[in-house]
Amino acid sequence: MRKKITVIGAGNVGASCAARLADKELGDIVVVDILEGVPTGKGLDLLQACPVEGSDVKVAGTNDYELTANSDVVVVTAGLARKPGMSRDDLLWANYEVVSGTVRQAVKYSPDAILILVTNPLDAMCHVALKASGFPKHRVIGMAGILDTARFRAFLAQALDVSVENIVAFVLGGHGDTMVPLVRYTSVAGIPVTDLLDKETLDRIVERTRFGGGEIVKYLKTGSAYYAPSAAAVEMVESILKDKKKVLPCSVLLEGEYGINGLFVGVPVKLGANGLEKIYEINLTAEEDAALKKSAAAVQELVDVMKPKLEAAAG
Ligand code: APR
Repeated sequence: MRKKITVIGAGNVGASCAARLADKELGDIVVVDILEGVPTGKGLDLLQACPVEGSDVKVAGTNDYELTANSDVVVVTAGLARKPGMSRDDLLWANYEVVSGTVRQAVKYSPDAILILVTNPLDAMCHVALKASGFPKHRVIGMAGILDTARFRAFLAQALDVSVENIVAFVLGGHGDTMVPLVRYTSVAGIPVTDLLDKETLDRIVERTRFGGGEIVKYLKTGSAYYAPSAAAVEMVESILKDKKKVLPCSVLLEGEYGINGLFVGVPVKLGANGLEKIYEINLTAEEDAALKKSAAAVQELVDVMKPKLEAAAG
């Protein structure tokens, strides 16, 4: 039987996700949004792209969660996007309400789904979704690392004038300016990137990666990135629905790994039919470990602010 995917939020990220999911024929798609008419219109538009793409999936948009029933994967993109001058953390309270409300509704109809969070501030929103859903941690996974890594890979491929496919890289930590691009684990067709680029160039690319989202917000003015974020979320959906067991950097609940406890942070994981199937603990230098801890501390700060609400919601 065909798989079913719900995308919550029919905005830039949600609609792009739905289009990519349909193009890849990953399953039937339901797009939900609070706006009247918009999800229905975009759903119809996407459905009508399918004959051109040769994609045999159903696509529908709605305001009604009932139509999302029995989804295998739910991708949460609903919420505010940032504008120039805002950090992802500035979205905390507005998106807290959106994520907790939409997740509650979605899991009522799809109690066995795997949740993929995209809404920012990402790692904090994963905590909200974990509490609102009551799901085990292997079914609540945040999209951040693939996007951050994709930015890093794109800049490296550009600097070296090589295929993006040759660049293997990892970005750890929270999805914020304290993220940790791991240069030591970055290679070009197996060649350490440090053999090919000087430190100054690498430092510049690391810095640009850290602020890659903000760079786009500055140009767009009215919103934030969505082509790369949707591509990243769809890579996660594909790995899960096809049980590909890809190793990808995602935000997951750490319980002692990397010396971090009870916090969603981006680390390399295996994604398959069961959702999060394994967390990989890689060796870090003292400097990398300190950078990861600093990034985790930034996530912890947001979680601490939300704690009273999260506890009340759980109780
Ligand atoms: N229920 C359903 N949909 C909602 C709700 C809600 N309670 N609240 C807001 N939405 C919808 C909006 O109506 C809008 O269509 O979420 C959509 C958000 O779309 P955009 O404003 O285009 O934002 P987008 O660029 O898609 O970003 C969404 O993803 O990458 C993150 O930081 C980004 O948090 C932001 C999210």
